[in-house]
Amino acid sequence: MFFSQIRGVGCALPPHIVTNDELATHMDTSDTWIRERSGIIQRHHVTDGIATSHLAIEASQNALKQAGLKGEDLDFILAATLSPDYFFPGLGVQIQHGLGCRTIPAMDIRVQCSGFSWGLATADAFMRTGKYKRLLLVGAEIHSRIMELSNRNRNFSVLFGDGAGAVILETHSGSEAPSAKNNIRGMIDHEMGSDGSGAEMLILRRPGNAGEPTFQDMGEERSMASLPHMEGQAVFKNAVTRMSEVLTELLTRNGLTAADLDLLIPHQANLRITEMLRKKFELPEEKVVSNIHLYGNTTAATLPLCMNDAQNDGRLVPGKLVATVTFGAGFTWGANLIRW
Ligand code: COA
Repeated sequence: MFFSQIRGVGCALPPHIVTNDELATHMDTSDTWIRERSGIIQRHHVTDGIATSHLAIEASQNALKQAGLKGEDLDFILAATLSPDYFFPGLGVQIQHGLGCRTIPAMDIRVQCSGFSWGLATADAFMRTGKYKRLLLVGAEIHSRIMELSNRNRNFSVLFGDGAGAVILETHSGSEAPSAKNNIRGMIDHEMGSDGSGAEMLILRRPGNAGEPTFQDMGEERSMASLPHMEGQAVFKNAVTRMSEVLTELLTRNGLTAADLDLLIPHQANLRITEMLRKKFELPEEKVVSNIHLYGNTTAATLPLCMNDAQNDGRLVPGKLVATVTFGAGFTWGANLIRW
C-alpha cells in the first residue's frame, strides 16, 4: 500500500513590506479600517523584475533544502496559482526548468485560494499509485501586479499580498496507510467541492475570452474588467459556510471531532473568518494557525506559509494530527487531514 508524507517545507517572500499606513497614501483607507475588518497589519509586494516563477522557485529550493534533496530528485511538479507569469504556458514548466529537474510532468492547478489544498489531494492521489516517488507542490502568487492601489479597487487591494510556499511529498509503503486511528505519518484524507454559480462574485475577467471586448481589444487604460472584482460580504458568508461544512464532513468521515486535532491550518482570507471558524469548532487560539497580520491573503500560498511558520514556532512537529481548510474563487473549497 502506497501513501504520501510531507518531507520538506519552504517559502519565499519578497523583501518589500507594505504597511497599512503606506496603502493609505494611495487610497482612502486607514490602518484602523484594515486591521478591524481583516486583521492585516502588513503584506509583502514584489519590486520590478520579480515574477511569480521567481518566488515559486525560491520557495521550492527552500523546501528541497529542508528535505535534503535536489531538483533532479523530483519526479512530479504541481503548481497552484491564479497569477502565473504568462497566460500560457503555465507556472509548472517554469519551475521544472528553473530547478534543473529532469523532463518530469509539471502541471498547473487553477482553483485559486483552494489551490494548495486541492494540490495536496491531487499529489496524494498520484502518489498512492506508487508510480511517483517525490513530488513538489508549490503555491505562488503575485497579486500586487494584478490589483490597483486605488479607491476603485481598495476593498481588494488592502487584503492581498505576494508570496510563495512549497512542500516536498515522498511516497512510502506499508501494510497500513495513515489513518485517524493510527500514528503512521502522511496524508490521511481529503474533501473538495465547488459551486460555479459564485464565479462572478470573485473574478478577474481579463485577460480572458468571454464576452466583449476580448482581451485582444483591451485598450491602454486598465478597464475594470482587468481588475479583480469581489463582492466582499457575499464571499465572506460563503467562505464561513463552506469552510465549516467541508471541515465537518472531513472530520465526521474520519470519526473525529475538532477537539481531536492538534492543529487547524485555515486559509488566511480574513482574521474574522478564521475567528468565526475557531469559535464554531471550539478550538483554543494556539491550535489555529493565523499569520494574516504579516502577509495578508496570499491565495494559493497561505497554507504552506502557515506550515512554515508553525514548524518554526514548534507547533508543527512529526506525529501531530493536522487539518487544513480552504475557500476560494470559483467558488471552490477543500480540506485535508494529515498526520504530520
Ligand atoms: N478602506 C476603507 N473603507 C473601505 C475599504 C478600504 N480598503 N474597502 C471598502 N471600504 C468601505 C466600503 O466602500 C463600504 O463603504 P460604505 O458603507 O460607504 O458603502 C464600507 O467600507 C463597508 O464595506 P463592506 O464591504 O460592508 O465591509 P466588510 O465589513 O464586509 O469588509 C471585506 C470588507 C472585503 C474586508 C470583507 O467583506 C471580506 O473580508 N470579505 C471576504 C473576502 C475574502 O475572503 N476574499 C477572498 C476569499 S478567498
